[in-house]
Amino acid sequence: MIQRPVFLIGFMGSGKTTWGKKLANALELPFVDLDHEIVDCIGMSIPEYFAQHGEEKFREIEREVLQKQHGKASIISTGGGTPCYFDNMEWLLNNGTVLYLKHSPKSLWNRLSQSDVNKRPALKGFTGEELLQFIESKLEERSPFYDKAHILVDQINTPLEDLVSLVK
Ligand code: S3P
Repeated sequence: MIQRPVFLIGFMGSGKTTWGKKLANALELPFVDLDHEIVDCIGMSIPEYFAQHGEEKFREIEREVLQKQHGKASIISTGGGTPCYFDNMEWLLNNGTVLYLKHSPKSLWNRLSQSDVNKRPALKGFTGEELLQFIESKLEERSPFYDKAHILVDQINTPLEDLVSLVK
C-alpha cells in the first residue's frame, strides 16, 4: 500500500511524465506533474518565466511547489533540474520513494532531438551536435543527485508491471 508520494526524477526527455501517468493509472493514484503545478502558480509558461524573471527565481518557486506535495499518496513527475537545487534531493528522499529514469546521453539526445527545444529553456536552444555536448556535460553535473534515488530504472523498455512492483 502506497502512503507517500512516488517521485519520478531524471533528465529532460527521460519520460517522467509518460511513465508517471502510466504508473498512476496502474496504481489508481492521482498523478501530479510538477511543471504543470508551477505553471498554475506563476500564471505563464516556463520559457516566459525564465525570460522575465530568470532561472534563479524559477528554482525558488519550484522548491515551494515541490514542498507542497508533502504527504500525498500520488505519483509525481518532477522537472529535470528539481533534485539538483537547494536540498531538494534530500527532501525528496525523506518525503517519498524516488525513482530515477536513467538514460545515456545518446538516448536523451535522440529523444530530445524529436521535441521542441524551445519549450525547455534549460536546453538553451541547442540543436544537433551542440545539444549532445550540452546533454553530456549537464548530465555529468546532475548525475550525483540523480544517482542517490532509491530506485534506478535504466531499461527504456522496462514493462509497466515491473515498475509497479518496484514502487509498491
Ligand atoms: C528543467 C526541466 C523542465 C522544467 C524546466 C527546467 C531542467 O522539466 O522543469 O524547463 O532544468 O532540466 P522537464 O524535465 O519535464 O522537461
